[in-house]
Amino acid sequence: MRALQFTEYGPADLLHVAEVEEPRAGPGRIRIAVRASGVTPGDTYLRSGMFGERLPLPHVPGVDAAGVVDEVGEGVTGVGVGDEVFGMVDLTLLGGANAEFAVLAAWAPRPASWSWEQAGGAAANAETATRALDLLGVRDGMTVLIAGAAGGVGTVAIQLATARGAKVIGTAGPGTQNFVGSLGAIPVIYGEGLVDRVGAAGAGVGRGGVVDAVLHCAGPVPDLISLAGSPDRVVTIADLSGEHGIRLTHTAGGPGADPQALHGLAIAAELAERGAFTVPLAGVFPLAQGADAHRLSETGHAHGKIVLV
Ligand SMILES: NC(=O)c1ccc[n+]([C@@H]2O[C@H](COP(=O)([O-])OP(=O)(O)OC[C@H]3O[C@@H](n4cnc5c(N)ncnc54)[C@H](OP(=O)(O)O)[C@@H]3O)[C@@H](O)[C@H]2O)c1
Repeated sequence: MRALQFTEYGPADLLHVAEVEEPRAGPGRIRIAVRASGVTPGDTYLRSGMFGERLPLPHVPGVDAAGVVDEVGEGVTGVGVGDEVFGMVDLTLLGGANAEFAVLAAWAPRPASWSWEQAGGAAANAETATRALDLLGVRDGMTVLIAGAAGGVGTVAIQLATARGAKVIGTAGPGTQNFVGSLGAIPVIYGEGLVDRVGAAGAGVGRGGVVDAVLHCAGPVPDLISLAGSPDRVVTIADLSGEHGIRLTHTAGGPGADPQALHGLAIAAELAERGAFTVPLAGVFPLAQGADAHRLSETGHAHGKIVLV
């Protein structure tokens, strides 16, 4: 099959399409003929060598995809050949989705309201946002600040938090205020003066802070702790430093269908079926232009999810 791959760690230019061996659906897995697959910042960090040169090469990137099931592994029930699904690879492999065929460890039926491109980019961000909002205990009546609201995870988190009944404030650049507002958040511009702007945006008085909970996807952390009133009420998916005392959440992955991942996908699919959840796309590229997709992600200003077809 054709797959995007890199054979050494380094810049995006190293990505190219190559003929590789097709993967097979092992126990508990399904294989799909991929219609679209996602590109995440994590894929670019991995490719660059930022996480260390820990994977055997060549490596096929991509952790989420959508397509048509063409092989069902032993022990899998509830899905059959020909079904349209979206889902995630086994995250311990850190890749495999940017290819003609991919093996999924967690999946849900493709909602009718999503294009293939949207479905291909939905799973990882739905899973990440759900995990973070669960950790923050986001529920009806809370005011939640999402820092980095215009990105892949932020755009999804706005909608999932709103669906829980929370009031959402989202930080974004001057050019993405309307975009963030269109997804259901009160937009505020990040940068100096953020604390005052969030206060002025009409946040309720939370438990000792201006907001009840903060999801940190991008930008500096200290103002976010001030706004929450305590580091306990801030969860980050992006600050690996550990220096601010806030909680970091990351996907564990592992063998078999991950129940936590399934939970996030099921919630997203159910909301999408009701027309209450969309997957904004920052860019759609042919597989052969995977390097351009990585470069867009590396600008740090992608608005929604980047997808390969
Ligand atoms: N731990 C996990 O499980 C996990 C999972 C997924 C992602 N992540 C990490 O979470 C981070 C976000 O991922 P993503 O996919 O959402 O990234 P992304 O799609 O690349 O989004 C980046 C967004 O950040 C915004 N931004 C840039 N500077 C900002 C600032 N100073 N304040 C607020 N927003 C700012 C940009 O909006 P403007 O253009 O408006 O500036 C852009 O839309 C990445 O570091 C990623 O690696 C972790």
